[in-house]
Amino acid sequence: MRPISRRNALLVGGLGAAATVAGGAGLWWSLASAQQPAGVGGGNGGGAAPAQGPELHGPAELRSADGRLQLTLDAAPGRVELGGRQARALCYNGTVPGPTLRLRPGDELSVRLENSLNEPTNLHVHGLHVSPQADGDNVFVEVLPGQGFDYRYKLPSDHPPGVYWYHPHHHGMVADQLFAGLFGAIIVEDPEAIPVGTERVLLVSDTTLDSAGNIAAVSPMERMAGREGELLLLNGQRNPLLTAQPGARERWRIINTCVARYLRLRLDGQQLQLLGMDSGRSAQPETVDELLLAPGNRADLLVTAAAGESVLQALRYDRGGMPGVMGRGPVPGRGADALATFRVSGASAAPPGSVPSRPAPEDLRTAAVAARRQLVLSMGAGSGRMGGGMGGMMRFTINGREYSESRTDTTAAAGTVEEWTLVNTSPMDHPFHLHVWPMQLISDNGQDVGSVAMRDVVNVPANGRATVRIAFRDFSGRSVYHCHILDHEDLGMMGVIEVR
Ligand code: C2O
Ligand code: CU
Ligand code: CU
Repeated sequence: MRPISRRNALLVGGLGAAATVAGGAGLWWSLASAQQPAGVGGGNGGGAAPAQGPELHGPAELRSADGRLQLTLDAAPGRVELGGRQARALCYNGTVPGPTLRLRPGDELSVRLENSLNEPTNLHVHGLHVSPQADGDNVFVEVLPGQGFDYRYKLPSDHPPGVYWYHPHHHGMVADQLFAGLFGAIIVEDPEAIPVGTERVLLVSDTTLDSAGNIAAVSPMERMAGREGELLLLNGQRNPLLTAQPGARERWRIINTCVARYLRLRLDGQQLQLLGMDSGRSAQPETVDELLLAPGNRADLLVTAAAGESVLQALRYDRGGMPGVMGRGPVPGRGADALATFRVSGASAAPPGSVPSRPAPEDLRTAAVAARRQLVLSMGAGSGRMGGGMGGMMRFTINGREYSESRTDTTAAAGTVEEWTLVNTSPMDHPFHLHVWPMQLISDNGQDVGSVAMRDVVNVPANGRATVRIAFRDFSGRSVYHCHILDHEDLGMMGVIEVR
């Protein structure tokens, strides 16, 4: 068994819950109760499931053919149903989530982004290992209202299969645009198919609607804490029903698209095997009881159905609190939220074929390290007269600086391996995300990780640290790293990297 750590984003076996509780800072952020008025939204106290919703829908799927996928994504306001309510949201091609894009390693993806919003936007392909330059995964592109942009992403022929996603990345508006509904899945298919009866793409999101069905406005305090919506949704639905036959093997591709909410997932009564997280893939599937997905993380999961009814639950996770705001213990109504109901009944399914094993992943622990860096994530008093924790706007910084597009914070030599120590001096967790080049998690709060864990979002716990190694291969150019609590990113916890 691999070492248990609350920051490894993977908790193995039944000890996971205890480790998480013990590792909590004892702080609970002050907004939880304000955001969870009694009887509204996802606040289904004590782990009880809310009335089970409709059958699960998946987003439309677009699949590449002959090495290409070409499409238009129109970002526009639209009326959709969210959690059973009529909502005015922001949509890609009229839906929340947007269409799922299915690709193969080596493919070329061409996306015409049309901006039909009344504010600027752009497009980011989260986790894909593609060029950040020019018309590639270039977050410095700004697409103004009424305009369009043609993105072209060329996946290397050895691109890791797995679960990825897309969302806007226009600095200052990222959290608002995702919270309003702009996100979608990208799947990079396995070279050798894994035999499953059913494959599901499960996008978890949260949002808050006002009484008129508009996306609710968010206070400065909620932005600083990282907003968590009242409605916790799976593919835009509240507690949908998934059905299966006993013995069936399913593949669940789970994406945490929430702006700030961590997902501590359980599906008690069912057998879960983790194929991988983010772009990482272990040689053999690992049996798990519980999974922690920080904002931005994905899990690629096999579920072997056992007769009965199980609830996919998101359990409370303590991600710390605002400096100067004392915790007050667990907030009632936030014990667990039901994400979906999994009903397994009927005749037994035919036994599935065996899962092909994967080549052992490369291990950067033995690589020569060309540079070591420390990146310090901080929340501090702002310069304004009210700065100082309570009430004023705080500064969200990396190495003491707020994001500036024109400044390059980190320069790395193309083709080298670096080791970064991510230090969190604040009393709140920050999920650290690097574009383009995946990170191998080496140590987790001083505890060595015993296996190869490739991630593009690594949680850095409150007042803790994490060490990663990064191979800056294949692509050069300018891109970014940031906290994937997207409110923090918008508030400045982001830096520019140039690889050359
Ligand atoms: Cu999912 Cu820079 O983002
Ligand atoms: Cu990203
Ligand atoms: Cu953060």
